[in-house]
Amino acid sequence: MRIKIVSPIFQRPEREFGEFVSQDELVEFDDDGFRNFNWKEVDGLFINDEQLENCKVFSSREKILEVLPKNGVCAELGVANGDLSYQILDINKPKKLILVDIVIQKELPIEPDVVESIEGDSAEVMNQFEDNYFDWIFIDTEHTEEQTDKELQVCKNKIKHDGYIALHDYIRYIRVDDKNNYGVVDSVNRFLKEHQDFEVVCLSLEPHMFNTIVLRRKQ
Ligand SMILES: C[S@@+](CC[C@H](N)C(=O)[O-])C[C@H]1O[C@@H](n2cnc3c(N)ncnc32)[C@H](O)[C@@H]1O
Repeated sequence: MRIKIVSPIFQRPEREFGEFVSQDELVEFDDDGFRNFNWKEVDGLFINDEQLENCKVFSSREKILEVLPKNGVCAELGVANGDLSYQILDINKPKKLILVDIVIQKELPIEPDVVESIEGDSAEVMNQFEDNYFDWIFIDTEHTEEQTDKELQVCKNKIKHDGYIALHDYIRYIRVDDKNNYGVVDSVNRFLKEHQDFEVVCLSLEPHMFNTIVLRRKQ
């Protein structure tokens, strides 16, 4: 969607500078240019420093894959055309890789003994697995706060005690369409606040800032 700034405090989708629009189409910005941003709520979501003590920073999510368990049982939630799935197979050589997507888009990696593709909602599909089953789970689906909350709640029980939950797009990206705002930061930080037995062990710091964060129970 193309955006035009029509005044310092108003932004409207797909409109030219100088056009007249109805009041309903105007979206208000605060002085810093952030739209509908709830500073007070975010101020309450700082991660406890103790939960960051063992966090290592990586240049990319591929570098993170390299330190996640090899020959393990893992899942990727949100697969699209399988770009990451191929990397997981290559780098981590899992003994089992569960691929979950709401719509299986095209043919995904076929290694019948290793890969199982399941079509369905990430949280619902994961709920069907026994607890303590996965060495690690990589979440990359809707990125909304609500869906990420559901995924974290389910996945925390599905990983082994020393298992990992990786979440892609740990970013605060505010789109024009409110419904699609990225809620991964809010969800992860709230989860960490409510689960002090978890900590952050990896964070990728990437040039485009579509970063990946990895959580684990304190060992
Ligand atoms: C960003 S893409 C995944 C990209 C992939 N992980 C990669 O790095 O190559 C997001 C995917 O999540 C899927 N998705 C969205 N909502 C979902 C849900 N509730 N449950 C499962 N998959 C979902 C979409 O169909 C889409 O294929």
